[in-house]
Parts: sequence; C-alpha cells; structure tokens
Amino acid sequence: MTVGSVLVTGGTGYIGSFTALALLEADYKVVIVDSLYNSSEEVVNRIELICGKRPDFYNVDITNKEALDKVFDEHPDIDNVIHFAALKAVGESGEIPLEYYRVNVGGTISLLRSMEDHNVTNIVFSSSATVYGDATRFPDMIPIPEHCPIGPTNTYGHTKATVEQMITDFITAKRNMAKKAGNDAEAEKWNGALLRYFNPAGAHPSGIMGEDPAGVPYNLLPLLAQVALGKREKLLVFGDDYNSKDGTAIRDYIHVIDLARGHLFALNYLRDHHPGLKAWNLGTGRGSTVYDMIKAFGVAVGRDLPYQVAPRRQGDVLDLTANPSLANKELGWKTEFTLEDACKDLWRWTENNPEGYRQQPPQEFLDN
Ligand code: NAD
Ligand code: WQD
Repeated sequence: MTVGSVLVTGGTGYIGSFTALALLEADYKVVIVDSLYNSSEEVVNRIELICGKRPDFYNVDITNKEALDKVFDEHPDIDNVIHFAALKAVGESGEIPLEYYRVNVGGTISLLRSMEDHNVTNIVFSSSATVYGDATRFPDMIPIPEHCPIGPTNTYGHTKATVEQMITDFITAKRNMAKKAGNDAEAEKWNGALLRYFNPAGAHPSGIMGEDPAGVPYNLLPLLAQVALGKREKLLVFGDDYNSKDGTAIRDYIHVIDLARGHLFALNYLRDHHPGLKAWNLGTGRGSTVYDMIKAFGVAVGRDLPYQVAPRRQGDVLDLTANPSLANKELGWKTEFTLEDACKDLWRWTENNPEGYRQQPPQEFLDN
C-alpha cells in the first residue's frame, strides 16, 4: 500500500537520494527523473539495498518538457513533485550565468508547465539559505528567520530567488483562477513549499550512500574528507578575520537525513493544511565555525587534519545560521542527528567508498 506518489527531480543527487529513500521508507511510491549530470544511476541500487524498495528511474533532462510529459503520462498516480534538479556551484554560476538560468529557471518552467498539463498540484522546491545573502546587514536577523528580507549575492542565489518567486506567482495564479470560477476546492489543491536549506552534511550510517559530486568539490566537508583520505594535502581556511569566536565563518550544518525528513513533513503539511505557498528554513539553529568543523571531523577521523589560513573567499558571509522555529512549530519537524553523527557518517562513507559510487558496495550488502 502506498500513501502517495512523488516525482523527485534530481533524485539521484545528494539530497534527492536521501529524500527518495525517506519517501520509500514512509511508503510513498517514488519516480526519479535526473539527467545524471552530477550523479550516478548506481544511487538507485544503493537506495534499494538500504530499504528493499526500488524507485523508478528516468534519465530525463528537466528542460525537456516532452520527456517530462511522458513520465507523468506513464505515472498518472503522481500527485506531488519534489524539485531538486539544478546546477549548484556558486563560483561557476558567476562564470556561466545563462546556463544557470537555463537549467534552474528554464527547467522549472518546463516542470511547472508539465505539472499544469497533468493536473499535478503540489510542489516542494529546494531553495537555499543563500537567498538571504548577508543577513548580518539587518539587526536581530541572526539566527535567520524566514521573514528576513532576501538579497542573494551571487548568480546561483538569484536563480533560487527567481524560482521562489515564479512558483509563488504560479500557485497564486492557479488558485485565483479556480476561485474566480467559484471552485474553492480546486483552488485549495494548488500548494507549494519553498524549503531553504542551510549546509547539508553527512551520509547514510550504513556507509553505502553519501555525496559523490562529479568533478572537484568546493564545499567544506567534502574537501575535509579529501584531506583525511590524503587526496589533498591540507584544507585552506578562507579567512580567520571574521567577527566570530575564532575568526572563521559560521554555518549551520544539518545532517542530510534530517534535511530529507523535512521534505516529508512539508509534503504532509501541504496535504493537511493547503496553505498555498509557504517558505521554511531547514537548519539546526546551531552555528559552527570552520575551526569547529575541522576539529569535529578530525575527531571522527581520529587525528588532527592539516589546514592553512588563506584569504577570504569572494562572496562569503560571516554567519548563515537558521532560526528553524517555524518549521519546528508548523511542520512538527526537528533535527535528530548531531554534528558528531554527521562527521562520523561522512567519514564512514568516505573511507568505505574513496571512489564514491564508482565502486561496489561491501559484499555483506550484496549477500543480503
Ligand atoms: P546534486 O548536484 O547532488 O543534485 C542535483 C541533481 O540534479 C543531480 O543528480 C544532477 O544530475 C541533477 N540535474 C542537474 N541538472 C539537471 C537537469 N537539467 N535535468 C535533470 N537533472 C539535473 O545537488 P544537491 O546538493 O543534492 O542539491 C539538490 C538541490 O538542493 C539543488 O536544487 C540545490 O541547488 C539545492 N541546495 C543544495 C545545497 C547544498 O549545499 N548541497 C544547499 C541548499 C540548496
Ligand atoms: C562553508 C564554510 C567557507 C571551503 C554553499 C553555497 C550555499 C549552499 C551550501 C547550495 C564557509 C569555508 C569552505 C574551503 C573554507 N549550496 N570553507 N575552506 O559557502 O556556506 O554555502 O554551499 O545552495 O548556497 O553558497 O558552503 O561548504 O562552501 O563553505 O574555509 O576549502 O567553509 O568559507 O565559511 P557555503 P561551503
């Protein structure tokens, strides 16, 4: 018995794969579309190894509306979409902005059009804390609440803010149209959740599922993992002259399993409350500096990790810590994993899979 069917775009990616797993574990049917631009189809096997259920997978580019139409046609039971598929490298977004707008904004337009044509009325969107930009420009906005004015400082963030606005306008228009026609029940069906993630971290405790980006990683934890593996000599700490307890910048690192669970709570909220459009922060509410992270990951690895202070990275801000109380209160969601869990799980995944998904999982998983 399934409790609903969800199309997950970008479902073989890092956060998408954990959300697909959480959905299957909660008895949803899951259909993944992903172009495999930054992920591997092996993820589908790993999900099945962990939970005994296999999501449907389609190699589809979200900018291709006809291909999306075919997937919806083949699965008329799909009633929700969780939309992860996007390009996400902040630095690269400033170099090839049109590509970022084509995929992140253009891809969402094809998706919304296809949803509209197939009367699929609920969407949960992967937004980012990056839409807030530098929240320290406002007094009393750290930790950051959802009502903090947004103000992205890079192209990637602009694409996320644009998509937030586009989904808001789309849902509002669908609701207004139905209301005008006197159909309040139809109006209520159209709902969207904008989930603003803080910094995802960690891997599956089994050690067989985690983050495996194509190309060179640029996020702190995957880089620290490479230092621990010896693939990189040391970590460069981008600035030790911030106004924090140790001079390094502060972020809110959230275990990817907690983040994935947040999507289920958001889906349930849309189903039960028909709110129209809502934005929620998904973070822990606890800030950690870069030095805190080097220390915490070093504890998981069992030795000190080498680092060197370098100049600040362009576009970085002092503090991105969530105020997650709205999601805690309205969704009934709260984080369960600690930073230590995230570090331990990341290290287990990294040690077991130095080549990521390009290697077989341990025999014990294949035997069962
Ligand atoms: P990811 O790169 O691992 O996952 C994104 C997936 O989308 C990949 O599997 C990729 O192959 C796929 N994809 C890219 N372009 C596509 C296209 N045109 N058609 C179909 N599939 C396509 O990234 P992630 O970290 O899992 O991020 C998921 C979402 O969350 C993204 O929207 C990202 O912007 C957002 N987000 C990520 C973070 C983070 O730090 N990881 C933080 C906030 C928000
Ligand atoms: C974390 C901290 C760095 C690397 C980015 C995006 C954001 C979201 C998550 C998608 C910062 C410091 C890092 C290194 C370092 N992604 N650092 N040395 O910048 O908080 O957020 O990823 O939505 O939009 O902007 O994450 O992991 O890159 O950096 O000192 O080699 O680690 O300066 O303070 P960030 P990050």
